Amino acid sequence: MAEGDKETYLEKLESRVNSNESNLLASICDELKQMIPSYNWVGFYILNKGKLMLDSFAGEKTEHEQISLGDGLCSMAIVTNAIVNEPDVKSNGEYLACFPSTSSEIVVPVRNNGKAIGEIDIDSDAKNAFGKDDEVFLEKVAELASGIVFEKYVE
Ligand code: SME
Repeated sequence: MAEGDKETYLEKLESRVNSNESNLLASICDELKQMIPSYNWVGFYILNKGKLMLDSFAGEKTEHEQISLGDGLCSMAIVTNAIVNEPDVKSNGEYLACFPSTSSEIVVPVRNNGKAIGEIDIDSDAKNAFGKDDEVFLEKVAELASGIVFEKYVE
């Protein structure tokens, strides 16, 4: 997806957030998966009493609808409050396998006042699918989604 298209998407997303569009997290998952062919599974996990609960997602159903903090790359992004960008999941001992087809994964924290309250998780069937451009783009999506995630967050 071209940089200009990402900019346009972010601008439109900002106005959709501001107009309180319903089911926006689910739409973001569907749209990202559709727009970017290497994004094979896209989901939002949201912290609920110290557990990561799967909220909206696009792609196959996963058995990991609930993840205890400490498990997987998903937890790592929360605990470190930083992006986890793993180019080769099979080489990472922390990785929690979801789909046999997954080769790389990126997890981007969603923050409220600087604290990680949830995340965007994306799996790709391609190795090394996520670059710096994806990190920058997804950080912006996460920032725009922050208010909606916070409404569902349970401390
Ligand atoms: N692979 C993740 C688990 C979630 S699935 O990718 C949807 C992890 O290592 O935490």
